[in-house]
Amino acid sequence: MRTIRRLDPDELESVSRPLRRYAFGGSPSASVPPPVPEPHDQAETFVAVVDGRTAATVSVESFTQNVRGALVPCAGISRVASHPDLRRGGNVRALIEHVHGQYAERGYVTAALYPFRPSFYTRFGYVTLPRARRLRLELRTLATLPGGDEVECHLVEVPDDDGVAAVLAAESAFSAAAHGSVVRSSPAAAAREAQRGSPWACVARRGGRPVGVATFATGPLGGTVVVDRLLAADEGVRAAILRWFAGHGDQFSAFEADFPPSARPELWADDVEYSDVSEIRLPRETAPMVRFLSVDVLPEPLRALSERDLADAARVAFGVAPVVEENRAAPDAFPPVDPFLGRRF
Ligand SMILES: CC(C)(COP(=O)(O)OP(=O)(O)OC[C@H]1O[C@@H](n2cnc3c(N)ncnc32)[C@H](O)[C@@H]1OP(=O)(O)O)[C@@H](O)C(=O)NCCC(=O)NCCS
Repeated sequence: MRTIRRLDPDELESVSRPLRRYAFGGSPSASVPPPVPEPHDQAETFVAVVDGRTAATVSVESFTQNVRGALVPCAGISRVASHPDLRRGGNVRALIEHVHGQYAERGYVTAALYPFRPSFYTRFGYVTLPRARRLRLELRTLATLPGGDEVECHLVEVPDDDGVAAVLAAESAFSAAAHGSVVRSSPAAAAREAQRGSPWACVARRGGRPVGVATFATGPLGGTVVVDRLLAADEGVRAAILRWFAGHGDQFSAFEADFPPSARPELWADDVEYSDVSEIRLPRETAPMVRFLSVDVLPEPLRALSERDLADAARVAFGVAPVVEENRAAPDAFPPVDPFLGRRF
């Protein structure tokens, strides 16, 4: 018999972790075990138990997503795994459907994830969004980018309380501005994530208010500065942040970060040099997927469409498949827009 339940935090180690370690951890080599990615401390973990054995596990974290300007609760799904002896038994389907129902009841509007294989999650109503562009820009070519002259950029040390507060404020400006963006809904969880992440941040302020951030770790002299998250409320903010990094031309040669899918640096300024290092390679390098959990808050044409086809409603709302009947009738209602989550999870 199968039962599904939510784990108490003190059960995580014994009930769910063995499956997650088997699915994602790799085998221990020598005396140093490989790191096992763990859900964030605010995650909820659910398991399917079959005849007393843990058959499947999934973790869910709470986020806020911007869908065409509306900020809605979003369930971030991760660490989906089933016991190798019990695969293809419907346990993951039962578990994911349970989680969708639970979060819909709590008022969550979307669910988002990075799949190991998109076709697996298509079965559950998820649709693929375009992958962020991973670009490596030559720093010396960014010094003259136009725009955002009124934006001031400063270095902060993230673990400091002031640094964390600045990162969170910039994150919330990005959340309000960027369609598709996903940020943690709990400020305490967001602060803990920032403290554990990259040690440095460039915070961009306009009129004293944070409007953008790039969190990063410094690399070897002459190497590439790898940016963990580059979140900018608009293009002027992004230009100002990139110019700030261009001031590091003696320290680093290149700047690597995720940009919105339609980013075209060749149009930002003459002479910009860059490489696109984006990759889609299953199971680790994949594009994000989203699904509607509840459609009550959607505007009417989308609600009607979702009753016919939930996936099409998500495609239209997120702007990745504008040509369906509703859009032909009102082409301006849901114009194509560039969804950018701004994070992985
Ligand atoms: C992927 C995995 C979670 C599937 O678990 P499972 O117990 O076999 O899943 P279920 O039996 O509930 O199958 C659910 C559906 O997906 C299908 N399915 C199962 N494995 C699949 C796969 N690898 N690719 C595509 N579809 C698959 C099933 O046929 C079933 O379809 P249906 O319900 O429409 O008939 C499991 O193989 C696993 O733990 N793999 C290792 C960890 C991993 O890759 N996790 C994913 C991280 S995002």
